[in-house]
Amino acid sequence: MKTLCLVLLIALLPALSFAGEHGAELESVDIDVSDKAALQDGAQTFVNYCMGCHSASFQRYERVADDLGISHELMLEKLAPAGAKIGDHMTIGMQPADAKTWFGAAPPDLTLVARVRGTDWLYGYLRSFYEDPTRPWGVNNSVLPDVVMPNVLEGLQGRQRLGCQQVPRGEGDKKSDGPAGSPLTDQACDQLMIMPNTGTLTEEQFNEKIKSLVTFLAYSANPDKLQHQRIGTFVLLYLAVLFILAYLLKREFWKDIH
Ligand code: HEC
Repeated sequence: MKTLCLVLLIALLPALSFAGEHGAELESVDIDVSDKAALQDGAQTFVNYCMGCHSASFQRYERVADDLGISHELMLEKLAPAGAKIGDHMTIGMQPADAKTWFGAAPPDLTLVARVRGTDWLYGYLRSFYEDPTRPWGVNNSVLPDVVMPNVLEGLQGRQRLGCQQVPRGEGDKKSDGPAGSPLTDQACDQLMIMPNTGTLTEEQFNEKIKSLVTFLAYSANPDKLQHQRIGTFVLLYLAVLFILAYLLKREFWKDIH
């Protein structure tokens, strides 16, 4: 019995450790790491908007260029920082100790973050910054409450706030004491709302941009997956051809017997 309890406890540990985190509901997102256009767009966003603070130090520019179908020249000219060599790892100059002083937490390396957090979490996190004057950078995040990362994509997304909205009964925020909705709706005051015309992208374009960025992070956490998919296709083609040959051979063998 004791062993059973122990086994159950160990099995439940991961669930328990996540239960402590605030559970904003995550939208699921369909990520295709073989989508070259998305990967290239995501790599560009990553270099332009994230590498000021985050490294991807298990990645090399060369490998990324080759996997994403970008020439080495273009990679060095447009994506890698000035002075970087094609064989360099995607590291940054910021020292973790300095970052800790500036932000209160060091921005983690993002090479493997898609494995640790999952793509739905990343897609949710990057779209859930909202204005909160009580926080050091004036923003909070409904997926990672009390976040210390500034909202670096605000220029694209626009300013986002928490607002109240009528939602179907049962989904509302029970704590809200706003005006009562109709009998069929509840008042929910934890709804993310983008203020119109405050960003350069529409909501749809922004979501697409984040999807590309998450696609790049998913690839980055598992670059061999691209190769596995290619090998998988060859294996299936090979089996298909083998099947046809085997069938023809069978027909040939049985021809005289029937
Ligand atoms: C100005 C510096 C800065 C920039 C630029 C920046 N971040 Fe961050 N980021 C941080 C800091 C600091 C944290 C730690 C946040 C915390 O623990 O509250 C963080 C945390 C994160 C996390 C959470 C990691 C985890 O598992 O807890 C993710 C994911 C992330 N950043 C992604 C990005 C992406 C993608 C970009 C580019 C669009 C980006 N960041 C740009 C500073 C930055």
